[in-house]
Amino acid sequence: MKVLVIGGGAREHALCRSLSLDPAVSALYCAPGNAGIADVATLRPVDALDGAAVATLATELAADLVVVGPEAPLVAGVADAVRAAGIPVFGPSAEAAQLEGSKAFAKDVMAAAGVPTARSYVCTTPEEVDEALDAFGAPYVVKDDGLAAGKGVVVTDDLAAARAHALACDRVVIEEYLDGPEVSLFAITDGVTVVPLQPAQDFKRALDGDAGPNTGGMGAYSPLPWADPKLVDEVMELVLQPTVDELRRRGTPFSGLLYAGLAITGRGTRVIEFNARFGDPETQVVLARLRTPLAGVLLNAANGSLDTLPPLVWRDDAAVTVVIASHNYPETPRTGDPIEGLLEVAAEDEPDAYVLHAGTRREGNTVVSAGGRVLSVTATGSDLAQARAKAYKAVARIRLDGSQHRTDIAAKAAEGR
Ligand code: AMP
Ligand code: GLY
Repeated sequence: MKVLVIGGGAREHALCRSLSLDPAVSALYCAPGNAGIADVATLRPVDALDGAAVATLATELAADLVVVGPEAPLVAGVADAVRAAGIPVFGPSAEAAQLEGSKAFAKDVMAAAGVPTARSYVCTTPEEVDEALDAFGAPYVVKDDGLAAGKGVVVTDDLAAARAHALACDRVVIEEYLDGPEVSLFAITDGVTVVPLQPAQDFKRALDGDAGPNTGGMGAYSPLPWADPKLVDEVMELVLQPTVDELRRRGTPFSGLLYAGLAITGRGTRVIEFNARFGDPETQVVLARLRTPLAGVLLNAANGSLDTLPPLVWRDDAAVTVVIASHNYPETPRTGDPIEGLLEVAAEDEPDAYVLHAGTRREGNTVVSAGGRVLSVTATGSDLAQARAKAYKAVARIRLDGSQHRTDIAAKAAEGR
């Protein structure tokens, strides 16, 4: 099977790494990719947002499957263009991707499907904003309706800051604050059948102790020893299957990866958000634990034959990933800094720990930073404490001027808290 992966972050590196280890994959391409993905896939340049260009590339490569990684191409209709060219694609249509592309649309789907989520108002005027902020009180949760690369959500006790963020957006969703630990649960679906993956936890805030601004995600781990063993079944029944059924009922079936961002509150599990693609960095730890070869799973989803897929097989191992970010991330990340230590990790720590590249590019013989999140250092171990120790040992070998990373990824969970 020839597979083309669209995107160029650590999630796509994790996808390509798993696909490269799958004996069913005879050729693997990534477009546009990054310096690390080049080690496991053949890179091709492409404008990932240009559906016609992606479809042409997929046709030229005689791809049997196209996997669209990031949300922006999905919302732009790239999966539709590839599907129209007659090539199976893992990723939802533009219409179904509105589940991520518009928070107001997601709320509407959840209301229709009876999915538990925060109470919310959609606001377009300053008056509506003030009323909604007043109705819920602090902490205020203000969400840009559209895609904002992980930066559209402000959670704050500061009314002025909440109002300022709301007024800076055209349309906002203002909602009730949900208190409790967060869980990311991914499910693969073909629009009818839903296959949940293992839950993971992401660390959204920039700094240790969950301080600092929201980011795209600074680290993740799986499994979640503290979570109720029935969590996955419960979310399947209350969230994932009803959402997939509702989108099919609307005539816009969702096929691809349905990401449920959940809060485990004192009053039960609530959806914080949906995404229409694999999460980053959670994918790095979820795929590190998946034993079933990945290509067949994705192809079954793309072909509408997930009901024939045997149950997924998971490793007992735990996995931890730590994101190394640029100087000044998430505000105005500095790029172009050389990265050293990659070969030392390859020589000393693989296969237990390895470096997945997020924002990197090659300049001659050096790899330099090319984005806010630069690397996602991933490790597996017999338990979280061991996986964590291995991940941080590898992190310590990496040298990137001005870089930052959290030191507490999976720390509480590893200590059984
Ligand atoms: P989102 O982009 O919707 O995932 O929001 C980013 C982050 O903001 C989430 O991971 C949460 O940490 C936080 N957040 C979003 N909505 C809420 C909410 N209703 N209550 C508390 N925190 C929230
Ligand atoms: N890690 C959060 C996301 O992928 O949206």
